[in-house]
Amino acid sequence: MIHASWNGEKSDLETLMIPALDRAYLFGDAVYEVIKVCNHQAVVLDKHMQRLRNSLAALKISYDTEIVRKICLELMSESQVEHGMIYIQISRGSGDRVHVPVKPLSPNCLIFCKETPSDPYLELRKGGVKAYLHPEQRWRRCDIKTVNLLGNVLAMMEAKNAGFDEAIFVDENELITEAPHSSVFMVKDGKVFAAPLSAQILPSITRELVLGLCNKLSLPICLEHFSKTKLLASDEAFLAGTLSEVLPVTMVGGDLIASGKPGPLTLTLQQQFRLNYRN
Ligand SMILES: Cc1ncc(COP(=O)(O)O)c(C=O)c1O
Repeated sequence: MIHASWNGEKSDLETLMIPALDRAYLFGDAVYEVIKVCNHQAVVLDKHMQRLRNSLAALKISYDTEIVRKICLELMSESQVEHGMIYIQISRGSGDRVHVPVKPLSPNCLIFCKETPSDPYLELRKGGVKAYLHPEQRWRRCDIKTVNLLGNVLAMMEAKNAGFDEAIFVDENELITEAPHSSVFMVKDGKVFAAPLSAQILPSITRELVLGLCNKLSLPICLEHFSKTKLLASDEAFLAGTLSEVLPVTMVGGDLIASGKPGPLTLTLQQQFRLNYRN
């Protein structure tokens, strides 16, 4: 049974019924968070709660995240999830299908907690992923964590259909933005490159933690946009995300990244990440 909460009322996710007029369903008018659970603990929960508050503020939805935090902890303990994830989604509420609600709505909050294999990304983390380059096709506020993920879903589907593990978005200037569910990094001549924060990318929590580890390890960081050409000529590349952590990229399109093996700095960061952020 997957433990869920709908506006504070607990139930089994499989049988949970939600209103058809919820604006998340009609308009994608909702924000979300995915939090990793490791050894019965929610990893960097405070950071996820802060980003949730930022997303809610961006959509002008008012919701008390202290309640959200309390329910997350209750669901985790009641369901005894050892390794897995917590999903939180808060919509503007349910009402008539009109773009602008005629009266203020009461937000709807869905939270569920789910057990997963202890490390679903183990193989890819060891061997690296093949990434498919896909034109950027998402809206212009990718910095807000909303449930509008169609561009991400279609890019991942296309990547998988073409035999790749992941996709990487390239914008109209041939610059790398991010991946459908991770940030993109590359390493060249010992420097770690990541795109600077902007409306084009999500302020990824794993990105922030990885940059913190780079500082701790005295690895030089370059927060600048890098092109597809630079990525292809990099010494190492990797993706970073909550569930996958640090994932080496060994091939982009049909081209190998360097020798086609996970790079040494990537592996160091991967190991340090595990040591520091797996409770
Ligand atoms: C588009 C996108 N970029 C980056 C990330 C990584 O963010 P985080 O490290 O906070 O999980 C995600 C996570 O889902 C994402 O959807």
